[in-house]
Amino acid sequence: MQSLKYVPKLMRAIVFRNYGAPQEVMELVDDREIPKPNKNQVLVKIECASINAADRYIVRANYFIIRMVFGLFRPSKKKRILGMDIAGTIQLIGKNVKGYQVGDAIVADIRKSFGGGFAEYAIVNAKHLVKKPETVSFEQAATVPISGQAAMMGITLCSINPGDKVLINGASGGVGSFGVQIAKAQGAYVTAICSTKKVNAVRGWGADEIVDYKKKDSIKALKGNEFDAVFDTASFECPGRYKQILKKDGKYVLVGGDFYNMLKLKLFGRFDRGSQKFMALTQEVEVTKNIKTVLEMIADKKINPAIQKVISLKDVPNAIHSLEQRTVVGKIVVNLNKDQPIYKKNQC
Ligand SMILES: NC(=O)c1ccc[n+]([C@@H]2O[C@H](COP(=O)([O-])OP(=O)(O)OC[C@H]3O[C@@H](n4cnc5c(N)ncnc54)[C@H](OP(=O)(O)O)[C@@H]3O)[C@@H](O)[C@H]2O)c1
Repeated sequence: MQSLKYVPKLMRAIVFRNYGAPQEVMELVDDREIPKPNKNQVLVKIECASINAADRYIVRANYFIIRMVFGLFRPSKKKRILGMDIAGTIQLIGKNVKGYQVGDAIVADIRKSFGGGFAEYAIVNAKHLVKKPETVSFEQAATVPISGQAAMMGITLCSINPGDKVLINGASGGVGSFGVQIAKAQGAYVTAICSTKKVNAVRGWGADEIVDYKKKDSIKALKGNEFDAVFDTASFECPGRYKQILKKDGKYVLVGGDFYNMLKLKLFGRFDRGSQKFMALTQEVEVTKNIKTVLEMIADKKINPAIQKVISLKDVPNAIHSLEQRTVVGKIVVNLNKDQPIYKKNQC
């Protein structure tokens, strides 16, 4: 085991011991044991993490499938720290891990280990590591593993050619903010759907046209259009409704929204019509490759993560609540170095 420097035994973390409202069930602790990596893992000192829709769904556990994974009545002891994506530096490295050195700045999607990002340290399996380009900040990098990656995967499935007309629903969210920018970078003409208060932000990310779904039924308003692709991160409509505004050989890609729409599409793909293709995104496809591609696009200044605000660890429950309230535009980043308690400064 290679180690850079002294690693403390205990860390600060946001822990949830029960399911419910984030501000009621999540608390900041400073005595959480720092996990130890096995021979295939590394220990990462987290610089930044980001808030994702997954955090809000898991803390409430309104879907039975979440309780099957995280614990039936309360989250099981090993799954009590949320936070699904991290950017930080490697502190300890298992003896089988190749291609990485202690001190390397990395980015990782840690969904497979059930989170752990709302803490000062996390264990990451080596196969989930991606090196952070130097010119991408930790704050920018932390937005990429879930939202940026899902947007890249979905836009890739849309197979965009320059000039294609692409419709993005849920354009103001974490995934949507990347989706709009990636589609634009690929030369698409982007029509975005979002709510009234977020129109200016979405326009700022490059959307060519915007439909405010609070003011009109967006699919009705778009009748007469023929989109090459629909990228849907807020599938609260029946996906079949999009048939009328999709080209004959158009593609509909569902990323999120209503859980049952996603399940239906995944299990039955029942909306396909002729050569129109309806797909639901799975998590398994080329995750690290997509993360790398998005990081490179940021480094090349082709896109810029839409960070609404940067918060400290203690503000995570409020931030998850604001995601529930739909007051977030783009992403909220948690910076572990913000508002560090004084004892931390004296410790090293
Ligand atoms: N498959 C994957 O790998 C993967 C990865 C990441 C995310 N996801 C899923 O993708 C979805 C979006 O994630 P996110 O991180 O972008 O979430 P987010 O930041 O909370 O954004 C959600 C978006 O949905 C819109 N929205 C919410 N409720 C709506 C409604 N009833 N009607 C119309 N629009 C509505 C919001 O728009 P307004 O605020 O403007 O109303 C917002 O833009 C989530 O379901 C998430 O679980 C899947």
